[in-house]
Amino acid sequence: MIKPLKFLISAGPTREHIDPVRFITNASSGKMGFMIAEAALAAGHQVKVVTGPVNLEYPEKTEVIEVTTAMEMHLAIMQNFPACDVLVMTAAVCDFRPIKTSINKIHKSDATFILRLERNPDILLSVRRLEKNQTIVGFAAETNDVIVSARRKLEKKRMDMIVANEVGGKEYGFAVEHIKATLLFKNGADREIGRCRKKDIAEVIVNEAIKIHG
Ligand code: PMT
Repeated sequence: MIKPLKFLISAGPTREHIDPVRFITNASSGKMGFMIAEAALAAGHQVKVVTGPVNLEYPEKTEVIEVTTAMEMHLAIMQNFPACDVLVMTAAVCDFRPIKTSINKIHKSDATFILRLERNPDILLSVRRLEKNQTIVGFAAETNDVIVSARRKLEKKRMDMIVANEVGGKEYGFAVEHIKATLLFKNGADREIGRCRKKDIAEVIVNEAIKIHG
C-alpha cells in the first residue's frame, strides 16, 4: 500500500494584459503539467492543479484552480502550498507584466508605442517550506547552456529536483508531445532522459519526486 501524497502542480502559461484584447504570454500548452497530474493520479496520489489559460480536458478527480496572471498564480500557489507534500512547477510564468493595463482597447496611432513592464514575483522564491517534509520540483526551459542554467536555477530557487529541458525547436519543448530533458538533483547527481514523450517523463518525474520525499 502506498501512502497517498498531496501533489500541487502548476501548468500552462500566464497572461499579462496590455488592454482588454491584447496580452503578453508564451507558448506553453499545459500538456506537461496535466500529464504529471495524470501520472500522479494513476499512482494513487491526490492532485491539485493551478493552471493558466489552456485548451485541455481536465483529468477526473482533480481539483483545478484556473488563473490568468502571474500574480493570480502566485496567490493560488502560496495559499495551497502549506497543505501539499510535493510542489511541481511546470508553469511558464511570465516574468514581467505591463505597469499599466488599459481599461479600454488602445487605438493604434502612427507614433511609436512604448510598453513599460515590471517584474512579477518569483513563485518558487516566495514559497517557504514548512517543518513537515515538502518536496519541490521545478522546470527550466532553455535554448542554450541548458544544464548550467538549470543547475543555477535549482540552487537559487532551493529546489530538490529540476527538469532541464531544451526548447526552441519544433521536435520538442513547448506545445508538442515530446520533451528533451535531463533531471538534475540537489545533491549534484543527474539523470539524462533524452528525447521522450511527455507522458513517459511524467511518470519518471512523479516516481523521482516520491523517492526524494521518502
Ligand atoms: O506546457 P507545455 O506546452 O507542455 O510545455 C512545457 C514547458 C516547456 C512549459 C515546461 O516543460 C517548462 O519548461 N516549464 C518552465 C518554463 C520556464 O522557462 O521556466 P523558467 O526558467 O522561467 O523558471 C524556472 C522555474 O521557476 C520553473 O519551474 C517556473 O515555473 C518557476 N517560476 C518562474 C517564474 C516565476 N515568476 N515564478 C516561478 O516560480
